[in-house]
Amino acid sequence: MSIDRRQALTKIIGLSTAAAGVALMGTSAFAATDADGNYRLEIGEKLKYVPLDAMKTAKLAYETGGGCMHQVFHSIITMLAQSNSIDVDKFAAIPTALAGYGWAGVVGQGTLCGNLNAAGMLINILDDINGQNDAIIGASFRYYETQDLPLSSAEFITGIGSTAEKTLEVGSSSIANSPLCHSSISNWSAASGKPFAKKGERCKRLSASLAYHIVELLNRAYGGEDISALPEARPSEEAQACQSCHGVSETMGPAASVKTDMECTTCHTGHFN
Ligand code: HEC
Ligand code: HEC
Repeated sequence: MSIDRRQALTKIIGLSTAAAGVALMGTSAFAATDADGNYRLEIGEKLKYVPLDAMKTAKLAYETGGGCMHQVFHSIITMLAQSNSIDVDKFAAIPTALAGYGWAGVVGQGTLCGNLNAAGMLINILDDINGQNDAIIGASFRYYETQDLPLSSAEFITGIGSTAEKTLEVGSSSIANSPLCHSSISNWSAASGKPFAKKGERCKRLSASLAYHIVELLNRAYGGEDISALPEARPSEEAQACQSCHGVSETMGPAASVKTDMECTTCHTGHFN
């Protein structure tokens, strides 16, 4: 299909003929395009989510290479680029290859898991979903921290197009206890007896599991569910207790200010027990 740039611009920005004269004067119409008139995502811009098939997305994530962050980001963006969102063309224009840096906790550093990095990168550009965007990010992080992963039911394994035979390569599921790639991998290694170098199938399935869960959360929020009301969208009760003194805008006396929803006691012992 070939459309000239003016047509593309009109299509993407959705200008009506009547509004075109006015809108073209506005900075935002120009800011969202490069000098040649090609659409380019702008900082602060938000794109419309529509519900996706969670299992199809998980299967695509499983089949997609390029590391865990790319698997999750690319699969969900690709599904949205083929959806009935009014922003399909904008989703299609996003260079998902940029997410390739997220493998093994940011280019091999073992810090933030790429699956969660992808959740943040994605949800940050999604238009408001019934006020639940932040809660979905929180719920994705807490899910990754607390759940026994990757998902390993027969239904899920068939759904993503894997096999029971490949489950032998996973060895064992495990709980990360943290959003860090390092703890996720090392707890899996402790559970399965396998080294980092053998993580292939396990991490592919983990990305499929996270893509599945993130899409489910997005769909549920779209359907009107109050994700923020669920305990799994919030820090644990223990972490909330720590935050009550180690606040973001105020702290108790000399207590240092803390801005994180991670589980504190995986790294700190806590000091009142
Ligand atoms: C009742 C308020 C309160 C709660 C609850 C609280 N803290 Fe603190 N925390 C403080 C104060 C005050 C300091 C500073 C103490 C000082 O400078 O002597 C502090 C200091 C710290 C320090 C600095 C090192 C140290 O031990 O002095 C760490 C780490 C810390 N808190 C972690 C935590 C964690 C983790 C939790 C939850 C398990 C927690 N805190 C809960 C008030 C609190
Ligand atoms: C992934 C590990 C990790 C997690 C989870 C974590 N922290 Fe920390 N925290 C650190 C590290 C590392 C430092 C820096 C310690 C140092 O420099 O000695 C730190 C520093 C602090 C300090 C200042 C320490 C001081 O000596 O004054 C406080 C207070 C603190 N963290 C509280 C918290 C609270 C509350 C939470 C949970 C809401 C939390 N941390 C979660 C790793 C973590």
